[in-house]
Order: sequence, then C-alpha cells, then structure tokens
Amino acid sequence: MLAIETSCDETAAAVVVDGTDVLSSVVSSQVDLHARFGGVVPEIASRAHVELLPPVVAEALVESGLDGGDIDAVAATVGPGLIGSLLVGVAAAKALALVWGVPFVGVNHMEAHLYAAFLEEPTLEPPLVALLVSGGHTMLVAMEDHGAYQVLGSTIDDAAGEAFDKVARFLGLGYPGGPAVDREAGAGDPHAIDFPRALVDQGFDFSFSGLKTAVVNYVRRHPDVSTPDVCASFQEAVVDVLVTKARRAAATTGARNLCLGGGVAANSLLRTRFVEGCEQDGLHPFVPSRSMCTDNAAMVAAAGWWRWRSDGPTPLDAGADPNLRLPQGEAANG
Ligand code: KG4
Ligand code: ZN
Repeated sequence: MLAIETSCDETAAAVVVDGTDVLSSVVSSQVDLHARFGGVVPEIASRAHVELLPPVVAEALVESGLDGGDIDAVAATVGPGLIGSLLVGVAAAKALALVWGVPFVGVNHMEAHLYAAFLEEPTLEPPLVALLVSGGHTMLVAMEDHGAYQVLGSTIDDAAGEAFDKVARFLGLGYPGGPAVDREAGAGDPHAIDFPRALVDQGFDFSFSGLKTAVVNYVRRHPDVSTPDVCASFQEAVVDVLVTKARRAAATTGARNLCLGGGVAANSLLRTRFVEGCEQDGLHPFVPSRSMCTDNAAMVAAAGWWRWRSDGPTPLDAGADPNLRLPQGEAANG
C-alpha cells in the first residue's frame, strides 16, 4: 500500500506491506516555511504540498524498491486537518489509484496516530486504551476491536500540543513549540512553580487553556523567572494530567494495554512517565518511536490496511473532512 499524509505541515508518503512492514517512509517538513510566521499558515501549507508531494511520492517508491505496478492500494488522510492541505493529498491519491487501477482508501488522521503503535508492535491486540495527543487533538480512546472505538474524553478547549506551541510562542522559543519546550525543560526544575492541573480528578476530559493563562500571568508577574524552570513546571503539569487520566481510563475499562500516539508523544517526560505509570499499574505500555509519533505516512498505511480489510475501498467521490471524527461503536466487520 502506498500512503499519503498532508493534513497539516508535513508532506509524507510511505510504502508499507500488510500494515506492518515499512519499505519506505519519507517525511518532508515545511517548518522552515512557517517558522517566521510563528505557526502554520494554511494557504502556504497547501501550496507547499502541491510542490512537495510529487517528489516525496517518487522518493517513497524508489526507496521501497517497487514501482507503481506493484502497488495494490493507495491510502490518504481524509481528515481531520486543514482542508486545503487535505485536498492535495486526497486528489493525488485518487489520481494514482485511477492510473494504476487499484482501490483508494480514505484514512482518519487520529486513527492513523493510534495505529503507529500497531505498526511497530505487531503483537499488540485490542482491547486497549490509547492516549492520542497532537497539535489539534487530545483524546483518550477505548479500542474494543479494530475500527471499534469509544472516545472516553477529549479536550474542552486547547489541545495539549496547542498549549505547548502557545506557551513556547509566549516565551519567545519559536515554532514548533513542543520540541523547544521539551529542550528547555531539560535544564529546569519541574517543581519550581506549582501550575494548575485542571480537571485532573474529574472524568476523562482535558482542559489546558487555564494552564497556558497561568504560565502567561506568572511570567508577567515574575519577569526574571528562569525560562527552563517555567518550561519544566509547565511540562510537568501537562504530563501529570495526561498520565493520571490515561491510567484511570485503563483501570475503568479493564484494558491491560495502554498506547501513546500523536506528536506530543515525542515529549521526553511524557514517554518516561507513561511507561513508569504503566509499570506501577501492571499494564503493558506501547510507545511508538519518536518519528512514528509525529506526522508521517507509514501510520496512515497501517490504519489504511485495516480500514481496507474491514470496509473495502473508499468511493472516489468521497471528499475530505476537516472535522472528521473517530468512528464510534461497533467494528464495520462485526
Ligand atoms: O501529530 P502532530 O505531528 O501533528 C498534528 O496532527 O497536529 O503533532 C504536532 C504537535 C505540535 O503541537 C508539536 O509542538 C507537538 O506535537 N510536539 C511536541 C514534541 N514534539 C512535537 N510536544 C511536546 N514535546 C515534544 N517533544
Ligand atoms: Zn498528527
């Protein structure tokens, strides 16, 4: 399967056999194009996808050692994401599917983040609980079977990655903010400032907007505070809430497997605390490698493989949906 990912600011293509064997995975980041604006500019992102996608797909094919005639299906992220960016990948994938006479498979971006764990750990089996933390989404998902999800909780305001990006921007650490805060935090004291942990003891929904405001207010009141201390204390508060709720979700659902996914899953502290928390509770943690956590097309192929097996091809007249939700309830194949 050839898979394409263009939902935000990474242009990516991958060739994956049977949803697990990655022959190639090429990611071209647009970070340099957006950095001077302090965030992703949607119009610039979609135009860059138009330019970058043909060479990225060509490189994925060359690296895989295959040519178009060997491809059995073409998958692409159809949502959620930036509509202009999504449409570039979806149109390209449909065109390739038509030319090669093979099925097109539309993939949900958050389902793809979840399948990054399956890609790297083929023995992983549902039922499981997944903590999916990206720039646009934060959710706790109970997966009863392939394609059968129950969203236990999600953010009521900012996503975790969005909070990292906004705090980094306020502190003048540039874009993308998550890796910058992660780096600064390494030299700071996580207990220097006691930032709020909103909703930590209540349900499975998240709220990070108050924490972001608390950081801004604290720094305005203490202009000489050390930036590493602010970053470390902020990161400690985010990770504390994420890991506490993920552990409680596993206890509530009785799941023995706990997976991590999404760009924020590349965070050093989150990775360590997640594994430690699972070990304390006797759970099996699955933490994909950093490059599989941030946006890539191999994870799209992993999810696309299962979608193709359960639902068959996606009609060529299906569009992209910037607000696509994770399918809830029963698996399509029962
Ligand atoms: O999944 P992703 O690559 O794209 C979306 O689907 O949104 O996630 C991007 C998010 C950004 O907010 C970025 O700042 C965050 O993941 N991120 C991190 C780290 N690396 C990426 N956040 C915290 N620590 C990191 N090391
Ligand atoms: Zn993503």
